[in-house]
Amino acid sequence: MANSYNILLLGSGGRESALAWKLRQSPLCARLFIAPGNGGTSAFGENIPQAPTDFESLKTFCIENKIDILLPGNEDPLVAGIQDFFKADEDLRHIIVCGPSKAGAQLEGSKAFSKKFMQRHGIPTAAYRSFDKHSFEEGLDWLSQHLLPVVIKADGLAAGKGVIIAYTYEEARAAYTAMIQEAQFGEAGSRVVIEEFLMGIELSVFVLTDGEGYVLLPEAKDYKRIGEQDTGPNTGGMGAVSPVPFADEAFMEKVIEKIIDPTIHGLQLERITYQGFIFFGLINVHGEPYVIEYNCRMGDPETEVVMPRLDEDLVALIVDMEKGKLSNRQARQKPQQACTVMLVSEGYPGEYSKGKAISGLEKVEGSLVFQAGTKSGIEGLVTSGGRVLAVTSLAENLDDALATSYRNAELISFEGKHCRRDIGWEFRKED
Ligand code: AMP
Ligand code: GLY
Repeated sequence: MANSYNILLLGSGGRESALAWKLRQSPLCARLFIAPGNGGTSAFGENIPQAPTDFESLKTFCIENKIDILLPGNEDPLVAGIQDFFKADEDLRHIIVCGPSKAGAQLEGSKAFSKKFMQRHGIPTAAYRSFDKHSFEEGLDWLSQHLLPVVIKADGLAAGKGVIIAYTYEEARAAYTAMIQEAQFGEAGSRVVIEEFLMGIELSVFVLTDGEGYVLLPEAKDYKRIGEQDTGPNTGGMGAVSPVPFADEAFMEKVIEKIIDPTIHGLQLERITYQGFIFFGLINVHGEPYVIEYNCRMGDPETEVVMPRLDEDLVALIVDMEKGKLSNRQARQKPQQACTVMLVSEGYPGEYSKGKAISGLEKVEGSLVFQAGTKSGIEGLVTSGGRVLAVTSLAENLDDALATSYRNAELISFEGKHCRRDIGWEFRKED
């Protein structure tokens, strides 16, 4: 057995910065490469220019650099079948891939697939029906009798934008028609799921599974809306906290028994190869957990609080995953409270400009700054995306963690810097 591993991490966001930070701490990590990475990931490894979905050039790179572990951070390469590509190739087969097969990635890649999967395995989720262009009229009829609000979802990947919560029939019909008939989300919207609206608080639960056993990672709650008190349009995520106060032992027992165990058992029964992270997007409806969505990867910005709270060697966990040794493994969690606050570009999630100089990072004390939409060049560190930096802090309580993140957020500057001021609002003791 190798005692150190060359690792290739795919992606370029805050999630990948937090993963790179965590991998770098492991004595089992030899060389770490990030494709394509960002302005911050180069502090933990070497950025390489390959795109995460360019399998052929990743293949060449893996062979030339003797890569032992491939960790896709984002869903695109997984949904496009990178695991199958590696396992079908004689020269790549020996590489540990931390991520599911294309079939497994359908849990995220197709909402119609994941809803049917949950139905087959009795996993609690919102009641639904799915329609396509052949059943378009039937879907319109169904919509007109549905209770409001009603949730309308494009089947495929739509970068988090394919979900509409409609409060009027007019809005519902318009969203449904735009998805199916006007191909608003291209192929992703050619099939549409119409589902019941669930009222409750959301949380994100993560496991790393070897296909049979799994370890539970720290749970988190993210704040998706741009505006304070959860108003305005959805974003990729404006901040997160971990742990989640209502996810106590009794609640997590229900999550394990009703959701995690049946999901992993279901994958096994259906002979779907799944070694990697499963992200359960859950909602707590009067103390009962329901699945809103599955993702086949870690969350962003959740990873920016989950990794700092994970008191384990991530490379060792991935190696144990490969060996099928996760059944008897527990992942220790740091008892502290963690929060992350995203600093975003002015205008995000709408249009925003890039290339703004970032300064003040050297003044930060007591927080970890995970870079997301940043780029470093001859002109120094500049913004290159909507979500720019995640400022993570750990403390004995959430108020202190937030105070540290907000204090440090003030010390960082770039033109148009914006953040939500109320991360963790429903769990705070102050105010
Ligand atoms: P998704 O892309 O499936 O995660 O949906 C995006 C967001 O829409 C979720 O994070 C929820 O806030 C909301 N959402 C999705 N489905 C439902 C539902 N059935 N009931 C209430 N809210 C939902
Ligand atoms: N924070 C939600 C996601 O990563 O999909």
